[in-house]
Amino acid sequence: MSKDKGVDSNRRAVIIGGAAAIAGIAAGIVIGGNAFPRTTVEEKPITSSIVKEEIGTSTTTVTQTVTSTTSTTAPPVSVPVAYVRQKVANYSQLQVGTPITTNYMGYTVYIVRTGVPSVGGVGPNGDVVGYSAYCAHMGYILEYDPNTRCMLCPQHFSQYDATAGGMQVVGHPNQFLPQLILEYDESTGDIYAVGFNRLVYGTYNTAAQASSSPMGES
Ligand code: FES
Repeated sequence: MSKDKGVDSNRRAVIIGGAAAIAGIAAGIVIGGNAFPRTTVEEKPITSSIVKEEIGTSTTTVTQTVTSTTSTTAPPVSVPVAYVRQKVANYSQLQVGTPITTNYMGYTVYIVRTGVPSVGGVGPNGDVVGYSAYCAHMGYILEYDPNTRCMLCPQHFSQYDATAGGMQVVGHPNQFLPQLILEYDESTGDIYAVGFNRLVYGTYNTAAQASSSPMGES
């Protein structure tokens, strides 16, 4: 009798272990599906089976339930994954000290002639530069001061030198202002942006998080 009980106990352990393993696999599928936001996982119990094993004159019943999962993957959302080449100004529009406000891939930017050759500058005098309009500290909209050639933040008074690649000269962020990488077509005077050199405030992937299509020709 004790030998039979030993054998049956092992069988029962195997059965219970099998049921646990099946449940674990099903749970793993569900967890894996939820890790991808575009996948919808639908659970539906579909199987209930009963296993009986005789132990002497008694009967042991083990019930296991298998959960079926159905995954539906939504079509991918089309977003830019890289910077694009976009016209942001023409040289004839620009006057020293007076920035123009425009849009690059959904981000507000300033294009300005500083009046002196500047880091990253393009154009006949190398003084056309472009910057994100959002302060690197907390994202407030900046203003350009032609006297200091700095981008000024009216919120907490940080300043970024527009002639020095957006180097912070006063304030909180301890980082450069993201600068537009510009190209100049001397045959037409058109100025193109081809990307930012740093992450724009509030983004972890500035290109992929762009909210609109480019408006200029490429
Ligand atoms: S938001 Fe510009 S310094 Fe704080």
